[in-house]
Amino acid sequence: MPALVLLGAQWGDEGKGKATDLLGGSVDYVVRYQGGNNAGHTVVVGDQKYALHLLPSGILSPGCTPVIGNGVVVDPSVLLSELSGLNERGVDTSKLLISGNAHIITPYNVTVDKVTERFLGKRKIGTTGRGIGPTYADKINRVGIRVQDLYDESILLQKVEAALDVKNQLLTKLYNRRAIAADQVVEELLGYAEQIKPYVTDTVLVLNQALEDDKVVLFEGGQGTLLDIDHGTYPFVTSSNPTAGGACTGSGVGPTKISRVIGILKAYTTRVGAGPFPTELFDADGEALRRIGGERGVTTGRDRRCGWFDAVIARYATRVNGLTDFFLTKLDVLTGWEQIPVCVAYEIDGKRVEELPYSQSDFHHAKPVYETLPGWSEDITKAKSFSDLPKNAQNYVKALEEMSGAPISAIGVGPGRDETIEINSFL
Ligand code: IMP
Repeated sequence: MPALVLLGAQWGDEGKGKATDLLGGSVDYVVRYQGGNNAGHTVVVGDQKYALHLLPSGILSPGCTPVIGNGVVVDPSVLLSELSGLNERGVDTSKLLISGNAHIITPYNVTVDKVTERFLGKRKIGTTGRGIGPTYADKINRVGIRVQDLYDESILLQKVEAALDVKNQLLTKLYNRRAIAADQVVEELLGYAEQIKPYVTDTVLVLNQALEDDKVVLFEGGQGTLLDIDHGTYPFVTSSNPTAGGACTGSGVGPTKISRVIGILKAYTTRVGAGPFPTELFDADGEALRRIGGERGVTTGRDRRCGWFDAVIARYATRVNGLTDFFLTKLDVLTGWEQIPVCVAYEIDGKRVEELPYSQSDFHHAKPVYETLPGWSEDITKAKSFSDLPKNAQNYVKALEEMSGAPISAIGVGPGRDETIEINSFL
């Protein structure tokens, strides 16, 4: 049975929560494979709105097993407060599974994230300040703390001491901060251990067995393609691999098992944090997209930078992820514009460029080349099929599909669970 990957095709915040949740009813497992509580999914179920940061959106679908894979970084305090927040609202979270190999975001990782950003000043990345980068750095430096370490106190202390050796030198001598005591960190982490224990398991085994048993497994990417550490706009990226390959490394499911890779694509573009963004708007149109689209970060509350649709990026996402389909979201936000510009290529140093330049310097001064498409003014939020859309909205979708290189199989026309047009089934 199929394993599907759902991931952001732009800079994150494409509305993945809605797409994942839409499929959540028909899938057996929803797996997060990278990132941590830097993500933010808003899921609307009936008149209830849920903001999830760390937990897979599938947690809201009864019958679905949510999984936090080995590639995720877990802040235990955030995990527990997210779980208790859902429990208070009557959501059953008992099916959650967490990989024992997932890395823990420790309090010192959060401190290092914040002080580093402050130290960088003008050159900062604009991280979410959740300790994501430093935790992945520890993982790669082989001084990370894993979920399984919470269950061996003496190993935990040794590992925390090893991790703090260099960090305390940096904190005290470079950043002028107080040193962090290993035993206090250990005490805090042990305080979470028993509450998390019921969820911890060998998720690699569980997922592969599930696939052998013909279950449907959905991999849910956090952030987006252009924020990928390898394929994004480095260094203005997150520290993991949201792109499709990350679903394999971050879960222990091999690439031959993945049958469909769906890119979530917003009908315009947004970005949070620093870094290049060729179609960014600094005028009334940008302000209107922000206001109508509710473009404020779920995790950080920061205003998102807004701009027109960028087909160069969409094509790139198709390529690096091997996308089989797109889910186009927030088409309704564009209702009311007489003309809608779409970026079809860039101009770099006077030359027209059709594909994303590999050179960071080139991308930093890429100027968008626009084609303008006629807009529509009719309310589209009640549309149930593609033919219910006004002709100009249909043409906008078809144009995007042609430019982006993969079929648009679903269209979001409003925030609600049922405000979606399904063109081709994902299952
Ligand atoms: P970090 O993931 O906190 O290290 O932040 C690195 C970059 O990724 C920053 O520009 C963040 O704003 C951005 N980022 C992280 N998570 C998300 C997300 O879920 N949506 C959009 N941007 C994100």
